[in-house]
Amino acid sequence: MISLGKITELAHHTVCSIIGEGDRVVDATAGNGHDTIFLAEAVGPSGQVYAFEIQKDALLKTAERLKQKNLDKRVTMIHSGHERLFNYISYPVSIIMYNLGYLPGGDRQITTKYDTTLESLKQALTLLKVGGIITIVFYPGHEQGADEKKHLLSFCRNLNASEYAVLHKVLLNQGNNPPELMVVQKKLFCSDLSG
Ligand SMILES: C[S@@+](CC[C@H](N)C(=O)[O-])C[C@H]1O[C@@H](n2cnc3c(N)ncnc32)[C@H](O)[C@@H]1O
Repeated sequence: MISLGKITELAHHTVCSIIGEGDRVVDATAGNGHDTIFLAEAVGPSGQVYAFEIQKDALLKTAERLKQKNLDKRVTMIHSGHERLFNYISYPVSIIMYNLGYLPGGDRQITTKYDTTLESLKQALTLLKVGGIITIVFYPGHEQGADEKKHLLSFCRNLNASEYAVLHKVLLNQGNNPPELMVVQKKLFCSDLSG
C-alpha cells in the first residue's frame, strides 16, 4: 500500500505506471542511491539508468550499493551536474527523476540551485520521450528550496499545454513546508479532427 504522506514514495508510484523493462532513464540527483536502485530494478537487465551526482563520495557509495545488489551493469554513474545532461545523453529517455535539495546526512550547503535545475529541466524536456515523465521532488522548507519552488512553479506553469501535462501534488494539511511533487508528461500527439 502506498503511503501518500511520503512524497518520494508517491514519485516512485507515479514512475511505476510509466516505466518498462528495457527503458533508458535518468536519475538527475543520485545522492544516497535510493532512486537509482529503484530505477535500476524497474528497467531490468536490458535497461539503462544514467545517474548524475556532483558529490564524488555519494557517487562512490551509490556505486558500491549497486554492485552489492548486482545492479551496477544497468547504471552509468556520471560525476557531473545534471545541467549537463546533453553532454552525456543524446537519445530519448522515458523517465527523468529529480530529488532536489541537499544530501540527507551530508553537507547542507551542497544543494541543488534553481538556475542549474531550470537549465537541466529544459534539456530534460527535450530528451523526454513522448508519453514519458519527469518527476521533481522539491523541498521549500529551506531557503534554496523555497527559491527553487518559486522558479519551478513559474517555469512549469508556462509550459505549452498542448505539448505537456503538468501535475503539482502538495500535502495540504502538513505544516512546516513539507516536500512537494511535480510531474511533467510529454503528451501523446493527437491529430486535430475538429476540422
Ligand atoms: C535529496 S538528495 C538526492 C537523494 C537521492 N535521489 C537518493 O535517492 O538518495 C539531492 C542530491 O542532489 C545533488 N546535487 C546538487 N546539485 C546537483 C547538480 N547540479 N547535479 C546533480 N546533482 C546535484 C546533491 O549533492 C545531493 O546528493
